Amino acid sequence: MNIVLIGFMATGKTIIGKALARELKMDFIDTDSLIEMNEGKSISKIFEEEGETYFRDLEKKVIRKVSRKNNAVISTGGGAVLIKENMERLRQKGIIICLKTRPEIILERVKQQKGTRPLLKKPEPLKEIKTILKIRGPYYKQADFTMDTSDFEVGRIIEKILKKVMNILRAS
Ligand code: S3P
Repeated sequence: MNIVLIGFMATGKTIIGKALARELKMDFIDTDSLIEMNEGKSISKIFEEEGETYFRDLEKKVIRKVSRKNNAVISTGGGAVLIKENMERLRQKGIIICLKTRPEIILERVKQQKGTRPLLKKPEPLKEIKTILKIRGPYYKQADFTMDTSDFEVGRIIEKILKKVMNILRAS
């Protein structure tokens, strides 16, 4: 069994994923980090030099590989949900959890992590966040459940996630 985290940029998929993996003694995999490692450059650079389509292709290949794993917490990039094949593969062995955060807080977090989100390098990033969120709404709803991470209390979020995961496992 795997646990898969999906959700918009800066909703805490990496931090929550790492904490969950530690708690459950599972491996932690971050698809963006894997892509950066394989390519030897940052996601921003990949977007800049190769474009989004190329990045999505790399993402699909990495997801194909990691979705075969067992006992892993897998954090995905915010747009991984857009490709049907990605979700089908991740779901085969995975409980899918969506993290969500209020747009204003997403903006704050992205500002702090300057230059890491090529899709939000726009004159009006808040407007862009809201537009993308609207488009992706139905995709993020594919999760088994959603957890709000606007108030970022990692310990409490982990506790709530674990309760929900246990319920799903018990019912299956
Ligand atoms: C993207 C999210 C990013 C990264 C890339 C594209 C997206 O990952 O994969 O910049 O389309 O939402 P995070 O969700 O980890 O920021």
